[in-house]
Amino acid sequence: MKMLTYSNNDQMPALGLGTWKSDPGVVKKAIIEAIAIGYRHIDCAAIYGNENEIGEALQECIKNGMVKREDLWITSKLWNDAHKREDVQPALEKTLADLRLDYLDLYLMHWPVAFKNGLSFPENSEGYLSLKEAPLAETWQAMQELQKQGLAKHIGTSNFSIHKLEQLIAFGGQKPEMNQVELHPYLQQQALIDFCHQNDIHVTAYSPLGSMDRPEVFKKEGEPIPLENETIKAIATAKSISPAQVLLAWPLHRKISVIPKSTNPKRLQENFEANGIALSDDEMGTIAKLDQHERIIDGSFFVAEDKGYTVQNLWDE
Ligand code: A2P
Repeated sequence: MKMLTYSNNDQMPALGLGTWKSDPGVVKKAIIEAIAIGYRHIDCAAIYGNENEIGEALQECIKNGMVKREDLWITSKLWNDAHKREDVQPALEKTLADLRLDYLDLYLMHWPVAFKNGLSFPENSEGYLSLKEAPLAETWQAMQELQKQGLAKHIGTSNFSIHKLEQLIAFGGQKPEMNQVELHPYLQQQALIDFCHQNDIHVTAYSPLGSMDRPEVFKKEGEPIPLENETIKAIATAKSISPAQVLLAWPLHRKISVIPKSTNPKRLQENFEANGIALSDDEMGTIAKLDQHERIIDGSFFVAEDKGYTVQNLWDE
């Protein structure tokens, strides 16, 4: 298994299992199946609404000796409604209780966007807190406290731009150790990756397969679908592997973690095997040409202009 190494020498399996859109009714079975296949890294988030079922699966697998806690890498994410200093630790404690764990391996700020506590998705800008009311630095300070207490061994961010990462680094203390972002051949994020790697920040690719099971509100007409790209399909055919395996081997080759979601045993196995697939320099070069800077998750659902949130200043581009 390819590993990413942290500054204290902790090792995270680069290929993990995504759980966004894994329904509570099926996710428990999928986690048990994944652990049986050999997955040791599970990517979770409070907002996915399934941490309780994932916790049941983890508890079962640890209890029956399938896996030891210390051999698992469990990531979760702080939701936007818990950015105020006093809300951060209770949010992590809820996640730990749901997951039946006493620590996380990695805890991420899910978005650089803040809501009033208790609002999962505010209906209008009233429910938002501006970055003056809930500064990212305040949340980051509280995240560092969690790390000091050992509740989260590593801390990081998700959906942060270079500019926002620079702000957190300038704030001092622990730097973000991970930035999880959307990443696939249509959104290659080379500048962000270069910045992260120069600053010892690991990167995780979400939506590596294009997240075609995402809710309709996140879909745009005519958008490109990575799994159906002709270049990806041609590379797959030439290597007698699947298009999904090409899409997963590609970030691993760039020393990026990747977290494909599946609840299907055959596809869980297929995705896991991407770990052993090598791509040639030629194949990497061909995929590099597919970039369109096209976001699936474009952040437009977090626009609240009177609180300072626009698509432009979300991504700082
Ligand atoms: P399923 O869960 O039924 O396997 P992403 O990881 O980019 O969010 O994409 C997840 C979507 O891709 C889900 O619809 C998932 O369906 C599907 N998927 C996962 N693995 C594969 C695969 N190997 N081939 C095709 N589709 C896949």
